[in-house]
Amino acid sequence: MAKTFDENTADIKNQEKYTLRVREILKSKGRTPKYYITTFGCQQNEADSERLSGTAKNLGYQKAESMEDADLIIFNTCAVREHAELRALSKTGQLKHLKDKNKNLLIGLWGCMVSQEKRVEDIKHKYPYVDFVAGTNMLHRLPEILCDVMENDRRRYYVDELDYSIVEGVPVERNNDVKAYVSIMYGCNNFCTYCIVPHVRGRERSRKKEDILAEVRELVENGYKEITLLGQNVNSYGKTLEEKCDFATLVEEICKIEGDFTLRFMTSHPKDVSDRLIEVIKNNSKVERHFHLPVQSGSTRILSEMNRKYTREGYLETVRKLREAVPDIVLTTDIIVGFPGESAEDFEDTLSLIKEVKYDSVFSFIYSKRPGTPASEMEDFTSDEEKTERMSRLLALHRENITAINASYVGKTVRVLCEQDEDENGFFGGRTSGFKLVKFTSENKDIYGKYVDVKIESFGESLLRGQNI
Ligand code: SAH
Ligand code: SF4
Ligand code: F3S
Repeated sequence: MAKTFDENTADIKNQEKYTLRVREILKSKGRTPKYYITTFGCQQNEADSERLSGTAKNLGYQKAESMEDADLIIFNTCAVREHAELRALSKTGQLKHLKDKNKNLLIGLWGCMVSQEKRVEDIKHKYPYVDFVAGTNMLHRLPEILCDVMENDRRRYYVDELDYSIVEGVPVERNNDVKAYVSIMYGCNNFCTYCIVPHVRGRERSRKKEDILAEVRELVENGYKEITLLGQNVNSYGKTLEEKCDFATLVEEICKIEGDFTLRFMTSHPKDVSDRLIEVIKNNSKVERHFHLPVQSGSTRILSEMNRKYTREGYLETVRKLREAVPDIVLTTDIIVGFPGESAEDFEDTLSLIKEVKYDSVFSFIYSKRPGTPASEMEDFTSDEEKTERMSRLLALHRENITAINASYVGKTVRVLCEQDEDENGFFGGRTSGFKLVKFTSENKDIYGKYVDVKIESFGESLLRGQNI
């Protein structure tokens, strides 16, 4: 059962007593405690980590410069591919010596990887120096968890509550003062057959429109220039709300907020891109000209095995409509290579789709078996060697496309939000409306956080280079 808003408010209020107790315990230690958070995985996890940081600060911790200097270390983990899990586990292994040096150090594993029972068992048995483990929906309960660990001096595992709640009011410490993430929904209901996300993040639920608008308003008032709306499938925003509101309407209303800011969003599921959303993008200059539209495969047969609920033709039609309405839109995508049963012919379909669409970025991943997902039970005849070979062909094709695309920028002037101050080589950094990375020189040095015009002079595979004019 979904909790009511009042119950959720009670949840965060409930943390106040733990916050006071933790503050007292920390004070009694006689030195300023420090925290260090490492984030694995996607932007959603980065946004969650900003809330973990905010909560740690509220408890009296200061940010540590390094792990060696910290009294609280949290790894916010990812489970999307095996590699992400292995990296988190290997880094966890390296923490043992820190615990040996500092007996007061508390170590926690958070998020998607440890929302799986098997991984929690691994941690219990193989990593005895990990003090607490908490799943994705425990975000607001860090004070309670720390209080429990500190007062009772025991290991705690908070993982079994994949509920439907949305808790507002968790303190936040943002990593960036120009760009901000705003989660508009949590969880996922799509159950693509390869994907672990719905299993570790629970069912889809949307934040109320008023809460989102209030957060964006506050960010804009505080000088943030770029807002990125986050969700696993932003296009299905609003389906769980009592007061109905769809994603297109949400975007439209955010654009009405006054101020000099722009809007991005990710990720969009191709099955849910509505004509109205395309209209809203077209009519609102605050929405940046970038659309990340993960296709996963160019073969309708494989798309059906993946449970993606669109065909190759349907996807291409969405691309056509987007480009017709917004000719300068930049498209990027995600692709899985070597999904179980992907034949040589299926893969050729993926290559021909890439050739046709000509993406500015392709994030390609070799399929990784995720225990508990339907695809992990499917028969897979393709060898690892063959999958690697397919991946290199895909990358070579993309390289060809991107060379032509990037060359077409040379001589043009693009608007860039400067989000990296001058580096030791004299280059500032930023992104175009289409999310293309630009490194540039500038005579005016006071441009951090401002929009500037950059004339493009040359390019690499993943960036454009130019001069502020
Ligand atoms: N909700 C987003 C994607 C989240 S995961 C969406 O639907 O687009 C980010 C990307 O990781 C996916 O788009 C997919 O390309 C990739 N991915 C997910 N599960 C994977 C797996 N088991 N193996 C390889 N790549 C995977
Ligand atoms: Fe995973 Fe599919 Fe949900 Fe994206 S839409 S998070 S790929 S199940
Ligand atoms: Fe990874 Fe969880 Fe994001 S599995 S990709 S951190 S939602």
